[in-house]
Amino acid sequence: MARRNVVKVGDEILRKKCKPVVIFDEKLWQLLDDMKETMIAEMGVGLAAPQVGVMRRACVVSPDGETFYEFINPVIIKSSGNQLCEEGCLSVPGARGTVLRPQKIKFRYNDRKGDLYEMECSDFLANICCHEFDHLDGILFTDKIIKEQQD
Ligand code: CO
Repeated sequence: MARRNVVKVGDEILRKKCKPVVIFDEKLWQLLDDMKETMIAEMGVGLAAPQVGVMRRACVVSPDGETFYEFINPVIIKSSGNQLCEEGCLSVPGARGTVLRPQKIKFRYNDRKGDLYEMECSDFLANICCHEFDHLDGILFTDKIIKEQQD
């Protein structure tokens, strides 16, 4: 595994829509392993492929630093409720703000072998997933801030 450079805001890469993953090969597994290592090293709770310069629909998520998820080609099929989330982003150093997210989501995704799964989650995990899935469409949390952090 190897750490990769995290792309920072201002780079056009972060604003592009990513393409679906269609080949589930060792190159993808290497990417996912590297993204996990980078997320841990940067002390993030999630990281999307475009943040390491790869324009594919894949992300890694870890709400607690112990549980690790990989979501490839995620598609939200149901969402409900609202929650106010205090967010930051490894690609937007220093920025924090409050974003409105669904409280609960249900989505489909592929695992690293290409098998299709469905998952339901809520609260913090739903918050991270929504943030990471947005990255795959070129959306940053700063686009959705309803209140800047005051301190
Ligand atoms: Co982010």
